[in-house]
Amino acid sequence: MTDHKLSDPALLCTKAYINGKWTDAADGSTFNVDNPANGELIAEVAYCGEAETKAAIEAAEAARPAWAAKTPKERAKHLRDLFNLMMANQDDLGRILTLEQGKPLVEAKGEIAYGANYVEWFAEEAKRVYGEVMTQPSPDKRVVVIRQPVGVAALITPWNFPNAMLTRKIAPALAAGCTVVCKPASETPLSALAIAELCDRAGIPPGVVNIVCGNTRAIGGELTSNPSVKKLSFTGSTEVGKMLTEQCSGTLKRLSMELGGNAPFIIFDDADLDLAIKGVMASKFRNAGQTCVCTNRILVHEDVKDAFVEKLLAATNALKVGNGLDDGVDLGPLVSVKARKTVEEFVADAVEKGAKVHEGPSTPNGECYSRPLVLTEATREMRVFSEEIFGPVAPVFTFKTDEEAIAMANDTEFGLASYFYSKDVARCWRVAEALEYGMVGINEGIISNEMAPFGGVKESGQGREGSHHGLDDYLEIKSLTFGGI
Ligand code: SIN
Repeated sequence: MTDHKLSDPALLCTKAYINGKWTDAADGSTFNVDNPANGELIAEVAYCGEAETKAAIEAAEAARPAWAAKTPKERAKHLRDLFNLMMANQDDLGRILTLEQGKPLVEAKGEIAYGANYVEWFAEEAKRVYGEVMTQPSPDKRVVVIRQPVGVAALITPWNFPNAMLTRKIAPALAAGCTVVCKPASETPLSALAIAELCDRAGIPPGVVNIVCGNTRAIGGELTSNPSVKKLSFTGSTEVGKMLTEQCSGTLKRLSMELGGNAPFIIFDDADLDLAIKGVMASKFRNAGQTCVCTNRILVHEDVKDAFVEKLLAATNALKVGNGLDDGVDLGPLVSVKARKTVEEFVADAVEKGAKVHEGPSTPNGECYSRPLVLTEATREMRVFSEEIFGPVAPVFTFKTDEEAIAMANDTEFGLASYFYSKDVARCWRVAEALEYGMVGINEGIISNEMAPFGGVKESGQGREGSHHGLDDYLEIKSLTFGGI
């Protein structure tokens, strides 16, 4: 078993967190969490299923009235304490994240700060849940709108941001007055369980936050069918999002879905190419290409293609791939062997259909490493045009006119993130309005932060996280009509 080298070993938690207690699976079973950089065992975690999930939902339901009855300022204080604890333990939380997920330590610590920012933000927003006085429908009536917590929320989170995707959901839910049952990805449960430990230290009452890991199908089945759960928030693939949506239909739960993407990154002929390279490198290779807002397709004007590709190859060759705990590493391993093989299939398909491969830096030995590379001569027939790659592969397509670029960008069922580079203000407005995406980066490759609404259109999902809109997903609107006036 790995030597975790944590300053506070109590942050490495391996049991389920139910009703404020660390709980073994009922039958005592566990599952292994391995380091994708070297395959070493990091921890054995309680393998929960339906029974433990039911218990967690009951705890959340029991804790709900008292949590909702707290003043927003009281809830904000707990969130603020959680934020402070996350930042005080940033090094250990980052280390746990790198060990189980693979991303470089600098990036992992950056994710802890990113995740903590949501907690800080919603601690502040908790105090800004306002009602409305409507216009009166008749002289003897008055209508007022109040907003109330949805109830118990189920939160299902992915392995690519095991900290930030969880806090981006827990923080607005708690701020709104909801209680939660969380199911983190089985590849990366330790980051989530460390957050449970910090929730405990922040004095968040038992039952308000519950975390169960293990049998995805059994836990998901209970979360999506149990009538006490009023809302489901999921981040993951469109395929699983559709399945969960179907499963929730029996009890008509409120849904927030942050699903897959197929981000275009357009470089117009007037773009500042150095700025565009900075943006594309950040957006393509962040987390080794494993984010749903990662650039999936680079669309470059044919007049600047050669100059752009030359710079892209130089920047890609300068990347360092290695164990995320080693100094100076830009890209860690992918999360699993399966993930690496999927990326290889994308490349094989593109090569078979005529793409030219420009291999980037070599990788250390290890089954999960994927070599960064650029594909030129890419065409629409290739899978890299229509499917999410989720790896360090940068396909380059060309276009001649603005209309063609916009049509290519929108030619997908996805609509999460998009990016483009141009110095022409009028073109910036036109293109930004024409792109069918929930988020657009204009001369910018990093668009995620707690102040901006994060979310997609089309098959990339529904709902928004972050910003003041993030609270809406956890609030119901109730209208009060006063008569006899
Ligand atoms: C994701 O990949 O699901 C989230 C990426 C981000 O928050 O920037």
